[in-house]
Amino acid sequence: MTALDSARALAGVRVLLGVSGGIAAYKGAELVRRLRDAGAQVRVVLTENAARFVTALTFQALSGHPVRTSLWDESAEAAMGHIELARWADEILIAPASADLIARLAQGHADDLLTTLCLASTAPLALAPAMNQQMWAHAATQANLGLLRARGVRVFGPACGDQACGESGVGRLLEAVEIVAELVRARGPREMAGQRVLGSAGPTFEDIDPVRFIGNRSSGRMGFAIAAAAAQAGAEVTLVAGPVHLATPAGVARVDVRSARQMRDAVFAHVADCDVFVSAAAVGDYRPQAVAAQKMKKTGQALHLSLVQNPDILAEVAALPRRPFVVGFAAETEHVETHARDKLERKHLDLIVANQVGANLGFERDDNALLLLWPDGRKELPRADKRELARALLACIAALRTTHGGNRS
Ligand code: CTP
Repeated sequence: MTALDSARALAGVRVLLGVSGGIAAYKGAELVRRLRDAGAQVRVVLTENAARFVTALTFQALSGHPVRTSLWDESAEAAMGHIELARWADEILIAPASADLIARLAQGHADDLLTTLCLASTAPLALAPAMNQQMWAHAATQANLGLLRARGVRVFGPACGDQACGESGVGRLLEAVEIVAELVRARGPREMAGQRVLGSAGPTFEDIDPVRFIGNRSSGRMGFAIAAAAAQAGAEVTLVAGPVHLATPAGVARVDVRSARQMRDAVFAHVADCDVFVSAAAVGDYRPQAVAAQKMKKTGQALHLSLVQNPDILAEVAALPRRPFVVGFAAETEHVETHARDKLERKHLDLIVANQVGANLGFERDDNALLLLWPDGRKELPRADKRELARALLACIAALRTTHGGNRS
């Protein structure tokens, strides 16, 4: 894989790198660099034995995050508990994987942080073994690897050559670039490679005066999760974000806006060359007719604000003569499917994502349940984490674009 090929091959992918005890542990440091070069977010866990060969500080500096070594570290557990870390990971990669670690994984042990994480996570597991050639060739090691492979664990390498112990044979850790290339290959072709996705997310704020505004409770999390998932799927992503306090997902170009009209301008600045537009923003339908130049004073009388309607960004995009695949959202408190289908037809959308909002539902939460509607079909996505929903939504968009012949332009 050339540097160019790998440039964004793991954009936004969350890789939990486990380093086990062996002289090759030092090569894990280089691997962190290469994973990050490929766009991955990396968190490192060292086994107790790995920490005898390398320092946590090296990996902390290279990954940009604290390194975990123990299940019993109270302050680390308070910051990001091990179950949270297990859920965080999109991929678990163990490099180097020692013979002992492989044996413990084969047996399903959970007697240290790394083995516990492997059991507690649903993320795919990959091992890059490194050990003395006799240990590699031993029937016990091979039987353990057979068990792990049968469970779907991927094994990268090892390579053949001179070993630190002075022997020569199979058991050398693959080079860092080779491990990254194997991981990219194992993840399979990226379903949105070469496509351009434009998204909107978050609320809009419509100013009343210099200190007050009309806003809404949208957190932006769904739109950000979609942008992150699209980048992970290989798309070139631009995200127009209303005022939210969320980190920009890796590999995503972000444009910050405040009002609906600013959002419209930003969307139209980028829509011409996009393939898919996903309008997850909760755009304010109305804005004050005039913004007071100074802070408004109370008068003792009722206050009447005159509001005018904002442009409907989604409907305007859908009305373009050369339009992308257009996806809208419908947040409804009742009659979800009826209202959403009505919106799908009225705004001439290709797909609408409906969800029920209200007390304790939808906004400001990390999970949600969605109903996807398109002109001749529907699909329910049961309650799940917004990251998972975002991936399922993009898979549906990709499938519809294939079966419905892509853009309508
Ligand atoms: N939308 C938009 N521009 C607006 C308003 C909404 O682009 N000015 C988009 C949203 O991003 C979302 C969809 O339109 O994708 C929501 O549709 P809409 O009918 O505006 O929903 P509500 O504001 O909930 O409208 P209603 O009062 O009709 O339920």
